[in-house]
Amino acid sequence: MKKSVFYKIKRLKNEKNALILSHFYQRSEVQEVADFVGDSLELARIASEAQEEVIVFCGVDFMAQTAYILSPSKTILLPKTDASCPLANMISANELQSLKQLYPDAKVVSYVNTTAEVKALSDLCCTSSNAQRVVNSISSNSRIIFVPDKNLGLYIKEKTGRDLVLWDGYCPIHNRLTVEEVESAKNRHPEALVLAHPECRMDVLKLADFVGSTSSMVNYVQDSIFKEYIICTESGVINRMKKICPQKKFYSACSNFVCKNMKLTSLEDVLISLETMEPKITISEEIRSKAFSPISRMMNI
Ligand code: 13P
Repeated sequence: MKKSVFYKIKRLKNEKNALILSHFYQRSEVQEVADFVGDSLELARIASEAQEEVIVFCGVDFMAQTAYILSPSKTILLPKTDASCPLANMISANELQSLKQLYPDAKVVSYVNTTAEVKALSDLCCTSSNAQRVVNSISSNSRIIFVPDKNLGLYIKEKTGRDLVLWDGYCPIHNRLTVEEVESAKNRHPEALVLAHPECRMDVLKLADFVGSTSSMVNYVQDSIFKEYIICTESGVINRMKKICPQKKFYSACSNFVCKNMKLTSLEDVLISLETMEPKITISEEIRSKAFSPISRMMNI
């Protein structure tokens, strides 16, 4: 069944001049059928540079919205409309507006994991792979509001020495990983390096040998001479690591390190989406054009 769905997707994709993009946290079979698998920044770049008319975005809503904001003339399909990011929903446009009123001179950097309305109120966007560069690009005498992820914010604050105004948002999946769980994984696998996503809590990040975006973790294991790794991020990324480094060993830092929203999209959903050209992402032109500026500034850094 799965095999025939796979080949139907490949055929329809060519017929409809579509590109399939997948985040590393997607189900392994969805990553398998995709043209590109990457982190948030890479997927946004590929979506904006793609020649194809149609993009099937296998990820969560803010990722597909970012693709639409950058390329409104393309058809951007999100196979599961309920695939949302809990972190992105942790700050609303009204809440950001109130925060801006408290710090009227501050520049606003919003993580790409935000709604289009929040981006529309921001000066710059960032992802986990460029947050440090984005913050460093802002004049040193400007105060910076950094929303919504407090863990990423604290990490960037430490890395850059900048005084960031933070919001109390977090990714529920990364935030629940504890020091005890990482230490216990280290005891079970004493030879393993610890790789962590910056959405993990600061005390967890202190135990990591490497901190970076999903793609940079994948690149790290590919380039490193070490043989074993404890992975402190959603377990979907381990599929990719095993595929490119079959001789190495990867251990999830805790059991059930799974984002259920990222796992909603099945191969069947991708097929239905290509058959029906639905569900399409749309954003009002007023919000889209305002949200375009902080994303395009980020892309130019
Ligand atoms: P990356 O940009 O590192 O892929 O992270 C995306 C994300 O949503 C992490 O939870």
